[in-house]
Amino acid sequence: MRLVTIYGSPTPPGKLARALGLLEAGVRDRHPGWEVERISPAEVIDPVTATWPADAVDRVAAADAVVIASPVFRGSITGTLKLLLDTLPVEALRSTPTAVLTVAAAPHHCLAAERHLRDILTWFGALTAPNCAFFVDRVFGAEEVPADVLGELAELADEVVVLAERLGGRSFGPAPLAARRGGPPPAPAA
Ligand SMILES: Cc1cc2nc3c(=O)[nH]c(=O)nc-3n(C[C@H](O)[C@H](O)[C@H](O)COP(=O)(O)O)c2cc1C
Repeated sequence: MRLVTIYGSPTPPGKLARALGLLEAGVRDRHPGWEVERISPAEVIDPVTATWPADAVDRVAAADAVVIASPVFRGSITGTLKLLLDTLPVEALRSTPTAVLTVAAAPHHCLAAERHLRDILTWFGALTAPNCAFFVDRVFGAEEVPADVLGELAELADEVVVLAERLGGRSFGPAPLAARRGGPPPAPAA
């Protein structure tokens, strides 16, 4: 089975990259039946904008489970991540177990990006994992990442791995509004 992680930062490699790397390494260790594949921006244009590889949509659509990772920018997700989400068709994430990982400088912004991502994931009818993970970025600047942080990263990944294994690709209704007749137009072609 395949876990796809989406690295939504336009400024690699930062604290979020370290967090995601630890999560991915944990899945490879604990779940040998799983392949882990990261989708990262292909080209950084400036400190807030980056473009995505041409095959990013197909790779998300082929995932059995997804982890979406974003730093908090201006109290929300990055514009770079939104660029990718805006190119995905509704089927790409529909009923896909999907977890959210966010980091920010300020602890009081713990729900800032998560709540916006949950709204977007509802548009897709994604199977959003009930528990998301948020960390203050400085924990990934330290030489050693605390054990409780590693534990939460493992729990986050295991949520979507277990959901995907138990549900076996099952699709759920009712169809999200975007998938019904008269819904919004498809994503523009690249
Ligand atoms: C343009 C920009 C906007 C940001 N906005 C916020 C914010 O609203 N709240 C916050 O706590 N941190 C904010 N930050 C800090 C980042 O979320 C934090 O430094 C994060 O670790 C950056 O990700 P990276 O380490 O992977 O590059 C912002 C950083 C940038 C560059």
